[in-house]
Amino acid sequence: MSVGLEGYPGAVVSLFKGGVTKTSTSLNVAHQLSERGHEVAIVDLDKDGHLTSLLGYERQLADGEDIGDAIFGDTAPSDLLVETEFGLHLLPATEDLETVEGKMKDQSFGVKLIRSEIVEPLVAGDVDYVLIDPPGGRGMLHDAALVAVQRVIVPLIPSAGSVSGLENLLRRSLVPLRKEVPLDIVAITPNMMRESLAQESGEQMLARELNTNEEFGQTAMDLTYEGFDHYLPEYARVDPDFFDAVADDARSVTSEYPDIPKPGIRYRKAINDATRHGLPLAEWQPSSDQIAAFDALAERVELASPEPERKRAEVADA
Ligand SMILES: Nc1ncnc2c1ncn2[C@@H]1O[C@H](COP(=O)(O)OP(=O)(O)O)[C@@H](O)[C@H]1O
Ligand SMILES: [Mg+2]
Repeated sequence: MSVGLEGYPGAVVSLFKGGVTKTSTSLNVAHQLSERGHEVAIVDLDKDGHLTSLLGYERQLADGEDIGDAIFGDTAPSDLLVETEFGLHLLPATEDLETVEGKMKDQSFGVKLIRSEIVEPLVAGDVDYVLIDPPGGRGMLHDAALVAVQRVIVPLIPSAGSVSGLENLLRRSLVPLRKEVPLDIVAITPNMMRESLAQESGEQMLARELNTNEEFGQTAMDLTYEGFDHYLPEYARVDPDFFDAVADDARSVTSEYPDIPKPGIRYRKAINDATRHGLPLAEWQPSSDQIAAFDALAERVELASPEPERKRAEVADA
């Protein structure tokens, strides 16, 4: 592992599936990081440009320059940033991310281009943390995002295929990339959790897998940032004994566990409404009980990232 390859402060919210809350989680974690007093840029690398359109921007800026011009031309990425009304900087997606990815593949170190042409110059300027909403599938753009910031947040929802999506991400992307760059899992977070864990449900299955599965659990732990004792944030953790108790006798579990665990980021209409309006939850509904979970994720990104000032100084010295 080369020291020169240390990631820049920030995270990629990743899973090779659509609709698993990548975009809304990116937006909310980015916003909580900015609430913590940092300058935060969110880079839309999704070919659908969903975040860009949710925030009310076109995938191409008025003067026609886009992220492709920063990667392959002389455009400074900071000139592409647009300012949201809630203090985040957005680097919008381009219509042509497919072409951008194709051109990256033609270069011998294409996988380093998001790092060297986008993230590094942003951090050398005013940006402290970079959050990336990546393409929903495997490919060079996704790897390039990981090489740039090297911290991953994995969102999972209680539906069939979630856990296999995680295993797939680990096996096909994170484990092989970890051999090249020192990347870390910052958090694996269940989201859109509706039911309590008392009945058999997708929620129960997801929470059980994440809290008790030793196979991918060990792989995930090995990839987790060394300063954390688990890949699950506190709000997502459940005592493994609970799952034995519920399997033994689902009806009497309520007497043994008067407070049935409600782990994960919960399903909230306000999160959906906020996202549809292109706003972070904390701006849409400041009283929401789920803001704390996004803040816990932001704190983990902060703790697992190198000091922005140190990275800025390193780039200036180079
Ligand atoms: N905790 C939640 N409760 C309710 N709806 C949510 C929650 N988190 C995300 N959503 C909604 O789920 C949908 C899919 O999320 P999105 O972030 O677009 O996923 P992805 O980027 O992975 O495709 C969006 O409509 C979003 O508003
Ligand atoms: Mg998305």
